[in-house]
Amino acid sequence: MHMRRKKWARPELADCPWYTAGPEEFRGRWRTRFPHPERPLWLELGCGKGVSTAQLCRANPEVNFIAMDISPDVLGDARRNIAAAWAPEPVENIILVRRDITRIREYFSPEDAVGRICINFCNPWPRRRHHKRRLTHPRQLLQYRDFLTADGEVWFKTDDDELFAHSLRYFAESGFEAVWLTEDLHASGFAPNYVSEHEAMFSARGIPIKFGIFRVIPGWVCAHEEEEDETADGAPADSLLSGGVRAGG
Ligand SMILES: C[S@@+](CC[C@H](N)C(=O)[O-])C[C@H]1O[C@@H](n2cnc3c(N)ncnc32)[C@H](O)[C@@H]1O
Repeated sequence: MHMRRKKWARPELADCPWYTAGPEEFRGRWRTRFPHPERPLWLELGCGKGVSTAQLCRANPEVNFIAMDISPDVLGDARRNIAAAWAPEPVENIILVRRDITRIREYFSPEDAVGRICINFCNPWPRRRHHKRRLTHPRQLLQYRDFLTADGEVWFKTDDDELFAHSLRYFAESGFEAVWLTEDLHASGFAPNYVSEHEAMFSARGIPIKFGIFRVIPGWVCAHEEEEDETADGAPADSLLSGGVRAGG
């Protein structure tokens, strides 16, 4: 869906002290950007208009957040939603970043020690030749592992059955274990859940929300990062990243 360019978004972002379009500068020292650098650092990828981001950061004032998206237009909305959630208090626990997540290794390093990554309703990229663009593809998950803490987690929500099924394989084959899984988040009783813009939209259509929490398996090493192949139906081949093992296992 094409979004109309919002004239106000870029100037408002440029004036915002908690926005950056140059994340490379802070690689390895993101924590220094927050008044309380010792607090947990959580990252949201593809935050869109920040509808759930605003609720999440307001409800967790003792967590530092970074929310990324490639579109300045949606980040403009996210800025307004987050400022409104905190008003009249100033916003101190979140930074908005405009950048392409597929290059995330250029913006984060192990020193950033991210404890949680949230991915909500990322593009399903249904065509097989586009699967590598998925934000849950092993190509991405292996980048995330580099800067997640030893017990770091990825929290993933989607409306898309095929993306969810494929992602279960992607996580397993990239050294993550599922610690919570449901194919109907809203019926599962899981709380608290902060409903995003797309989550509300798909729920209103009667589509159940698929959700998983995937935790880093400590000591797992990837032996065949570049040996990627995909089967005819688009699912990852059995050989994909099969070199992952627990150290000493
Ligand atoms: C379908 S929207 C979901 C927005 C929000 N998370 C929600 O649940 O309502 C996906 C968002 O991811 C962003 N996005 C997609 N690919 C991206 C990439 N490679 N880098 C940064 N942002 C990306 C898009 O700009 C869009 O805002």
